Amino acid sequence: MKSDFEIRVIGTGSALPVKVWSNAELIAARGLESSDEWIRERTGIAQRYIVGEGETTFTLARDAVAKAMASAGVGPEHIGVLIVATCTPDLSFPSVAALVHGDLKLAHNCVVLDVNAACSGFVHALAVARGLLLAGTAEYAVVVGAETFSNLVDWNDRATCVLFGDGAGAVVLKKDTRTQGHKAQGVLSIDMGADGTCAPQLMSSGGVARGRVAGTVLMNGREVYKHAVRQMGSKVEAGKLLDEAGLTVADVNWVVPHQANLRIIEAAAQGLGISMDKFVVTVDQHANTSAATIPLALDVAVRDGRIQAGDVVMLQAFGAGFAWSGAVIRW
Ligand code: ACO
Repeated sequence: MKSDFEIRVIGTGSALPVKVWSNAELIAARGLESSDEWIRERTGIAQRYIVGEGETTFTLARDAVAKAMASAGVGPEHIGVLIVATCTPDLSFPSVAALVHGDLKLAHNCVVLDVNAACSGFVHALAVARGLLLAGTAEYAVVVGAETFSNLVDWNDRATCVLFGDGAGAVVLKKDTRTQGHKAQGVLSIDMGADGTCAPQLMSSGGVARGRVAGTVLMNGREVYKHAVRQMGSKVEAGKLLDEAGLTVADVNWVVPHQANLRIIEAAAQGLGISMDKFVVTVDQHANTSAATIPLALDVAVRDGRIQAGDVVMLQAFGAGFAWSGAVIRW
């Protein structure tokens, strides 16, 4: 998308529940027939954070947004778009974004909405926010990924319950006029798609219109693995994304992939021919926080100094639907 404007990321923030559970603690507390060794070997996960009393998707989203706004130096009155990517909202309605809007006292004319593209939700929401900024008059947007999958997993299903965690991450976007003669900054390209025929491979067992319940996670792990590696490790897909940004694989400083499983990330790195040194990995610490994994990882890598101004960062998302999305950002 060519424009006289550029959409830059000017701040990041994240929030995690207070309580962290190691594999061993989770196995003992839930009475699972599993082991720390099995979970680490198959997934790379060592621990996950799980919400306790008073912590919900909304509180995590709110805290991540507040931190992102503080790091950007932008007050709530300036935010014109707030999008929360989640498939574990506090309520069927209003949106988590509306709850955050009310609590943080964002502007009256701020657009608030939730996006549900499962684990791809954050990059999808980034695309929507970019579109709204480019099409409208708002100068600042906040995009959040926030989830509490601990409320959605079947704690009797060892094949899924050990994979997920809770958390939230947020970025603040700013619309700027593009400076002629300078390298384009901010979100340079976004690509999205889906294969809806695979929806039954990863789904919740219920919903409001199917029994008035949230349901629990149903997953065909092997199919998810295969499709995730095929999509995230596709040189063709990454090439399209980078080409639109006017870049090549050699220009990429950091890849921030969806954090479902270390083996998926390693296979994707191999497929792309990009060294694992350039991948930001947090799945060991956070487990799979669905739409929150990418913004959480971004915040970690910005705060620890890995991602620097001017770096080219490629985001890669894949999840239920099977919806996928990617983005290239010059930080
Ligand atoms: N602890 C111990 N044993 C387990 C556990 C567990 N937590 N879970 C399953 N097993 C057992 C199975 O019952 C099976 O036993 P059996 O051989 O006696 O039948 C054995 O381990 C092997 O099970 P598989 O499902 O074949 O194991 P696999 O090697 O495929 O690994 C895994 C399972 C880790 C889920 C893998 O398929 C995977 O990573 N899939 C991707 C799924 C994913 O990451 N989903 C996240 C959501 S989607 C997303 O974010 C993109």
